[in-house]
Amino acid sequence: MDWECLRAICEDCHRCPLGQGRTNLVFGVGNPRAEILFVGEGPGEQEDLRGEPFVGKAGILLDKMLACIGLSRKENVYIANIVKCRPPHNRDPLPEERTACLPYLREQTRLIRPKIIICLGKVAATTLIDPNFSIMRSHGVWYERKGFWMMATFHPAALLRNENLKRDAYQDLLRIREKYEELTAETKKEPPVAETDGKKEETEK
Ligand code: URA
Repeated sequence: MDWECLRAICEDCHRCPLGQGRTNLVFGVGNPRAEILFVGEGPGEQEDLRGEPFVGKAGILLDKMLACIGLSRKENVYIANIVKCRPPHNRDPLPEERTACLPYLREQTRLIRPKIIICLGKVAATTLIDPNFSIMRSHGVWYERKGFWMMATFHPAALLRNENLKRDAYQDLLRIREKYEELTAETKKEPPVAETDGKKEETEK
């Protein structure tokens, strides 16, 4: 399935009751070839009105967090959510809503082929990494799953509620930058050049 087709299916989706309440579908934003995919929980009021993830207060903080490690939603990351329609009163998406929406995120992941997936907060981490995931205990830890490097860190809304978490969140960000550099350096590496009969040839990997 290509992006256009996937978006069209999502725009029309009523696989769970959240589809009835949406003003706009919040499909995702960013570079469709990004090396890093950030996943939040679900759209809030502002996101529902604008049809873009993380555009409210938490989104402004997320953009600052990305900028502090040289990333931006316009250039080198993709941002999506576990559910694409706003849960009423910003409650956590229910297990059946997550299950209904997850195939769309899986398809986006297949199209993007990111190297790194970052779960923003508990809803994303318990859905994508481990149902018993504890952010306080296991934020900043890398998990290698199905060919992706995965980590969970604090949701920016949690950082707005509790400033004391920002130090730990910053350490997580540095680890993300470090992994990003490590993995992109591997792909950027020029193949070694060997001399043969005065001609330069690329050696096989
Ligand atoms: N919180 C989320 O988890 N996702 C959004 O898109 C906005 C706020």
